[in-house]
Formats: sequence, C-alpha cells, structure tokens
Amino acid sequence: MRPQSCPLPSALLPLLLGLCSGTSFPTNINIGGLFPGDSHEYEVFRFALAQNQDIPKLVPQVDMVDTSSSFAMTYAFCSQFSKGVYAIMGLYDRRTVNMLMSFCGSLHVCFVTPSFPVQTNNQFVLQLRPQLQEPLMALLEHFYWTRFVYMYSSESGLAVLQRILDTAAERSWQVTSVNLDSLTEPAFIKLLADLDYKKDFQIIIDCELKRLNYILNLVKHSETKPNYHYILANLGFLDLNVTEFQKLGPNVTGFQLVNRSDPAVQKINQNWLDFDNKDLKVARRRLKYTGALTYDGVSVMATAFQNLRRQRIDISRRGNAGECLANPPAPWGQGIDIQRALQQVRLEGLTGHVQFDERGHRTNYTLTVMELSHIGPRKIGFWNEKRGYVNTAIYRPMQEEFYNVQNKTYIVTTILEAPYMMLKKNHEQFWGNDKYEGYCAELAAEIAKHVGFTYRLELVGDGKYGARDAETKMWNGMVGELVYGKADMAVAPLTITLVREQVIDFTKPFMSLGISIMIKKPTKSKPGVFSFLDPLAYEIWMCIVFAYIGVSVVLFLVSRFSPYEWNGEESDDEDETTPEYTNDFGIFNSLWFSLGAFMQQGCDISPRSLSGRIVGGVWWFFTLIIISSYTANLAAFLTVERMVSPIESAEDLAKQTEIAYGTLDGGSTKEFFRRSKIAVFEKMWSYMRSADPSVFVKSTSEGMIRVRKSKGKYAYLLESSMNEYIEQRKPCDTMKVGGNLDSKGYGVATPKGSPLRNPVNLAVLKLNEQGLLDKLKNRWWYDKGECGTGGGDSKDKTSALSLSNVAGVFYILIGGLGLAMLVALVEFCYKSRIESRRMKRGSLRGPMQDINFGSTSLVLLRGVGPSGLGGENGRVVAHDFPKAGAQGLPCMSKAAGLGLSSTGM
Ligand SMILES: *[C@@H]1O[C@H](CO)[C@@H](O)[C@H](O)[C@H]1NC(C)=O
Ligand SMILES: *[C@@H]1O[C@H](CO)[C@@H](O)[C@H](O)[C@H]1NC(C)=O
Ligand SMILES: *[C@@H]1O[C@H](CO)[C@@H](O)[C@H](O)[C@H]1NC(C)=O
Ligand SMILES: *[C@@H]1O[C@H](CO)[C@@H](O)[C@H](O)[C@H]1NC(C)=O
Ligand SMILES: *[C@@H]1O[C@H](CO)[C@@H](O)[C@H](O)[C@H]1NC(C)=O
Repeated sequence: MRPQSCPLPSALLPLLLGLCSGTSFPTNINIGGLFPGDSHEYEVFRFALAQNQDIPKLVPQVDMVDTSSSFAMTYAFCSQFSKGVYAIMGLYDRRTVNMLMSFCGSLHVCFVTPSFPVQTNNQFVLQLRPQLQEPLMALLEHFYWTRFVYMYSSESGLAVLQRILDTAAERSWQVTSVNLDSLTEPAFIKLLADLDYKKDFQIIIDCELKRLNYILNLVKHSETKPNYHYILANLGFLDLNVTEFQKLGPNVTGFQLVNRSDPAVQKINQNWLDFDNKDLKVARRRLKYTGALTYDGVSVMATAFQNLRRQRIDISRRGNAGECLANPPAPWGQGIDIQRALQQVRLEGLTGHVQFDERGHRTNYTLTVMELSHIGPRKIGFWNEKRGYVNTAIYRPMQEEFYNVQNKTYIVTTILEAPYMMLKKNHEQFWGNDKYEGYCAELAAEIAKHVGFTYRLELVGDGKYGARDAETKMWNGMVGELVYGKADMAVAPLTITLVREQVIDFTKPFMSLGISIMIKKPTKSKPGVFSFLDPLAYEIWMCIVFAYIGVSVVLFLVSRFSPYEWNGEESDDEDETTPEYTNDFGIFNSLWFSLGAFMQQGCDISPRSLSGRIVGGVWWFFTLIIISSYTANLAAFLTVERMVSPIESAEDLAKQTEIAYGTLDGGSTKEFFRRSKIAVFEKMWSYMRSADPSVFVKSTSEGMIRVRKSKGKYAYLLESSMNEYIEQRKPCDTMKVGGNLDSKGYGVATPKGSPLRNPVNLAVLKLNEQGLLDKLKNRWWYDKGECGTGGGDSKDKTSALSLSNVAGVFYILIGGLGLAMLVALVEFCYKSRIESRRMKRGSLRGPMQDINFGSTSLVLLRGVGPSGLGGENGRVVAHDFPKAGAQGLPCMSKAAGLGLSSTGM
C-alpha cells in the first residue's frame, strides 16, 4: 500500500475558486484516481488527462493503492472524497468491488472504471468494459458447441461462469469448468493431457491478458493436436502475442474491442507512443484495450463536465465534504447530477461507440470477432446487441489462400464408385494416388495442379457418402470425415444437398445430373423376308382378304340378279331360234375382277349394270386408299432397322402397368418420389409403394441386373450419370430413356471455413470453362465405353435396300411362276386324258366327228380352264356348234386362248 497525494496547489485551487465564485462553474475539476502502482491503466490515465486541454480542466488526485486490499482502498477512497473530488476513476478487484460499490452508492460519488464488469444496479459505478456473456453465447451457438471446457480465473469476476453454467443446465450442455487461479504449470500440463485423453477439444479460456498469454504459451509448447478449438473470452485479441500462437492454427477465436485500423485510433496510439514522460518505467507499447477503456473513461468525464458547465448546473462541493465514514452516511447532494451527466454521454471513443444504460453498463457496442489464420489474425465476424453474431468470413484474397495451401499435403477422402474412382487392374504395383483411376481421380489431380497443393487419396472408412444418424446426431461417411477433421477435402460423386451444405462447404457442381429411367434395350428388328407386309398390320391384311372375298361374292350375286348384266347374243345361226344369254360375272370372273382392281391392273371385263358398277366403284375407292397407305409406309418399313422402345418418358411409365419400375431402397431417388407433389410422380410413387413383389432394390448393381434379367418388364430409376455409364458397359443391353426427372449436382466438398474452399471452387469453375470436365466425362463414359459409339443413335440411319429386304417379293414371284407351270401341266394332262378318251371313241366313227371335236374341246376347255366346272358362262351350252370349228390341237390351243381371255385369266 503506497498512498500518494498529488501536488497540493493544483488540488486546492479549484476548490477555493469554486467557493469564492459561489454558483459559478469551477474551471478545474478534481478527479480521483485509484490505480495499482505502475499499471498500464494509470499511464494511460495520465496520458489522457494530459491530452485533454478542454475547459473545465480535469485535475487528477491519484492514489497508488493495492486494489486487492479493502483497507487501503477504503482509506484512499475516503481521503479523496474528503479532498472534494467530483468523480473517481480507478480499478477494482474482486475483493474490493463490493466495498467500493457500497461507498459509491451511499455517498453518491461516481466511480468510472475500465475493470471487469459486474452485475449490479448501482448506477454510480460506470463500467466502461462491455459485458462478454452475450457475445460469447452467440459464438458458442454459431460453432454448435455443446460439450466444452470452460477455463476461468476468478480475478475478473464470475459473471460469465454463472451465465455459462445457467445456460448449460438449461440446454443440457456438458461443461467442464476449470479454475485457473491456483493451477501450477505441471498441473496445467497434466490437465491438457487429460483433456486430450477425453477428447475435449473445445475450450474457452476466460482470463486477463497476462495470464492468457501465459496459458497460451503453455498450450503452444504442449503436444496439442490440430483439432483443438479455443475461444478466448477476452476483449483484446490483438493485444495478445498473436504471432507466437500462429502454430495453434485457425482454431483460436477471440474478441477485439478496439478497431486498430480506424485512423482516429491510430492517431491516438501514435500520440501515446510519443508521449514523453521521464517517470515512465515500462517500455512503451501499444495501447491495450484496458488502456483504451481508460482513455475513453477520461473522455467521458471531460465531456460530462463540459455538458454540466454548458448547462450551468451547480455542482460545487459544500457542506459535508469529508464525512466519508459518517453514520448514517450523508450522500453528496450534487452527486446525482454528475451521475446523470456521465451516464448521458455518448461519444465515439477508442472502443467504438460509448453509451451507457441506466445501470451504468455499456450498451450499443460492437465487438469484432477474430481468429488466427495461417498468416495472422483476421476478422471473421462481429457481434452487436441488435444483430447478434454476424459471420462475415466469406471472402479471402487469393494471395492468402495460395500462401496457405501451397506445399501442404492434404487428405482427400473419396469412395470407390465406377467410373469416378476405381482401383487400377494392377493396383498392387502402384503406391499412393497412382493406385486409383477414374473421373474423380483425374479431377482431384487437376484441382491440385491448379491450386498447387499435394494430396493423398484415402478411401472413406465406412464406405458411405454421408448422412446424419438420427439418434447420435453424428455424421458418417465422407461428410463425417470432413466434419470431424479427418480429411481436408472430398472429391467424389457427392450430391449437394441442404443438410450437407449446413455442415460442410461445397464448390460449384462439377457434374449436373438428375433421376432418369433405365430400361432394357429393345432388340433391333431386322426387316424380315416378308417385311413388305409390315406397313399394314396383320389384322388389316386379314380384313383385306375378307373384303376381297366379300366384294367378289357380292359382285357375283349382283350380276346374277341384275338383268343388265346379261348379254343377249344374236345367233347368226338360223337354226338357233332362242337367243343365247351370257353373263361375264360368274364367281371366278368376279374374283378375277376384284383381284385385278386391287392390284391396280384392271381387267377387260367390267360391270355394265349400275349395281355392279357401284360395287366396283367402292372397291376401287377402297383399293385406292389402302394401296396409297401401303405405299407411303413401305419404304420406311423396308429400310429402317427399328428399335421399338415401349417407354419414352416417365409419363409412359406411369400410364402402364405391364412394366414394373422401382428405385434404390433408401436412397435420395426414393426420397424424391416420396416427397414429390407432381401428379405423375405421385402416381408412380403410389404404384411403387404398393407393388408386389417389391420394386425396390438394395444396390444399383442389383437394379441393373434386374433390368437385364427381366426381359424388358422392369425399369429402374437412377441418377443419369450412372445410367449413362451402365449403358456403355457390356453387355450393352440397357439404355437411358427420356429426360431427367429432377436436377442436382455433384460438388467437391471441404470442411466449413477451410482455406481450400475458395481456390478449389475457382479451380472447378476454371476446369469447367476450359471444357476439361466435359473431356473427362467423355473419356470415362464413352471413350472407355465397351459398347462403341452410336448405341441408340443408329435409329435414324437409313441405308439402301438390300436383297434381304425384298426377298419375299421374289419368292412370291418364283412361287407364282412355279405354280403356273404346275397348273399348266395339270391342265395339259387332264385335257390329254379327255382327248385320248375321245380319240378312242372317235376313231370308231367317221371323220365327221373331227369337226365336232374342236367345238367340244372348246366347250370343255371353257369348262375346265378357269372353273373346272361346266357352265362357266351361266348356261350349259348343250349344242355348241361353232361356225368355224377349229380343227386339231392347234385349234384347241387357240380356243383355249379365247376361253382364257374371255374369262380374264
Ligand atoms: C477446428 O476445431 C474443430 C472443432 O471445433 C475441429 O474439428 C477442427 O479439426 C479444427 N481444425 C483445425 C484446422 O484446427
Ligand atoms: C511477446 O513476444 C515477444 C517476442 O517474442 C516477447 O518479447 C514479449 O515478452 C511477448 N509478450 C508477452 C505479453 O508475452
Ligand atoms: C475499423 O475502422 C475502419 C476505418 O474507419 C473501418 O473501415 C472498419 O469498418 C472498422 N471496423 C469495424 C469492425 O468497425
Ligand atoms: C447506437 O449507436 C449509434 C452510433 O454508433 C447511434 O446512431 C444509435 O442511435 C445508437 N442506438 C441507440 C438505441 O442509442
Ligand atoms: C514450396 O515448394 C517449392 C518447391 O517445392 C519451393 O520453391 C517453395 O519455396 C516452397 N514454398 C514454401 C512456402 O515453403
């Protein structure tokens, strides 16, 4: 305890002046000061007073006291009060704070302090230091801390500890609190080892700068793993020896109150460094945040007294000056005016906006949140009452990134999935990254080349992509490896989703895809020999045959009934009295007529009656349309090797029930259908959900096998990239049909806040713009495909007709010719037999019979030729005596020709 008084004259003069001048405002204001010896705050206090040249002049009355001793503090406080100070500036300690408060409260003396804030309603204590509870809580929330170690020292009060324990109880956090007060160095080292063992990697350290520096030094020298994260509950992040703690990495987060880049702050700091004082024992160093608070305290006082002076408020000390320990204590009458004046001050100080609430606490202040990055401290966000914690760590200059990421080996997690990442066939002969090949292996190599880092590919331990366990809330798969710091990057077909994006960062997608349909490739139908029949369906051909027969029969009947169809033949023969009536349209001629019309050839008989012509007309019309349709389709059907796909889109699938379809069980595709609100997909989902047997499969390969095995009766819904890949795999019997049902992307993932994120993102964009991603896709999908180019593309390929396309026509021609020859033979034989029989009989008679022979043969031929039955022309000619009978065989042939032409064969 070293009580010290200031020079007497300067202390007494204003008092005397004030007494003499009555109500006039004093030009010198006595300010008390209670500081421990050679403290930074005291130095700054003197500096601030020296800087402040305004009227009224503040005159210090400083006592160097041991702030932890109640007796010394009481003595110094009372002695200053009795000397008539208007307000006191100083520090307190957890042992003296209560005593100081009760004095201030009962005597109405204002105490302005840069010391730690206390929870009190005593308005006479103006606390310059902002409270940390709220910002700290906001930060914990931001980092999702629920299990952490809280290290505190009781020197700065226990308000924060109180708050943390309350919140922990409320939200069932697991908080281990450690008091640093009595902790020795070996004990602390042991504590660190203990935390390491228990995997308590999240630590809050709450203590004053000096001890904080000391502790961080211990931490720095201990064998810490990189996955620790410290939050420093202190307002002077930059006052720490930050450069020394660089090794602790980015996972040191803290608060900074003083904006060092503010020009006003820099100017005052420069003045402070220049401030020449012979008494100075400590080396000049920057203003710490406690110093800045002291400086602002002096500014607040100066402003308050200027305001009082301007308002001409009488604050003169009269009467009971010095009755410090009176019982009951007599409050100072003007104290409340001074308190109000101090509390209402608003100014922009070194510590930002200075403003007090009615309890004398700082309000409306902003704290910068900083972290140690690889190149030094940097701002990651800020906190204020209105907006809470705002994260601003979005953009980092490239220089910094490259500096950080270069010459480091990063662990890249990935998953075996063809064609993205595959083990080479002879992978035993290789080591490290060379063991792998595939789209993602090359992508990772390209990214590393662009950004300039080295990396090691590691397969994800559990072989999963990454989902959050519903019970433990832990992430598995590659996402888990990133979240829990086991890997620095994931290069794999990892879909960008909302829940994943919340815990890790994704680059822009390197591949876009969507759900698509896989079906078995329909077999190509090579045009068959009889493909000329294809343009018309089988049913139509049948109908045509029946129509043909029907029309012929109708024509026959109509001609029978219609009198106009009968021709009366004037017989030249005088012997014949009855005229001969003939009718061209016997049943065979009708058939012949219809056939001729159908073949577009016509025939030299045609109906003469109206009814017959009607029949002929409609048949011609019918023929015209059918033949035109046939001709129009013929070329296409003869030349094109068609691939008839029963399904072209999701709508096609939804419409039918013959082809089953399903998805992977428990994948995002199934989820897509479950959630979808689109009618088609809802319909598909209701089918899939209730289908029996189940249409869901356990794995993509099972789905693929099911498609291949089920002969086109199963369609599988999967992501388009995989679909396209399988389409290019042997035995090349699947294909993708239709467009994508949705759209999503695969992205490269990095942990949140990773320095890799930005350069990797830029690299992916660059690779995309350079077309390298397309090249990679082509290489791994199509160049290495096993099905050759084309595949389904040959659909519209046309080629010249080959013989096989039209062979059927030739067959029919040959068959017809053969048949004709056969029939001719039969006819000849038949005729010869009859002839020979006739000859035998005829040889018994005279040559007279010879004449008759010709005519008989004519009759016979007429009967045999087309019909095989007698009476072709409707009437059996009983006595057919031709005018010019043909003689012998030549005659017969002529007659046969006649008969043929008359019946139209
Ligand atoms: C940062 O801290 C988190 C836990 O908060 C930890 O998972 C991560 O590995 C740490 N990262 C580094 C680079 O230290
Ligand atoms: C900060 O580091 C410097 C240089 O290493 C050292 O001289 C100084 O004492 C350190 N300051 C504190 C507060 O530890
Ligand atoms: C610090 O001061 C600089 C210069 O006035 C200003 O641009 C910057 O926004 C300030 N930072 C904060 C956190 O207020
Ligand atoms: C908070 O401070 C700003 C200046 O930084 C001031 O404009 C504003 O009025 C203050 N808000 C309140 C509620 O006093
Ligand atoms: C990184 O490595 C290159 C060559 O390997 C070297 O020239 C460079 O100095 C290294 N950079 C750093 C920051 O170590």
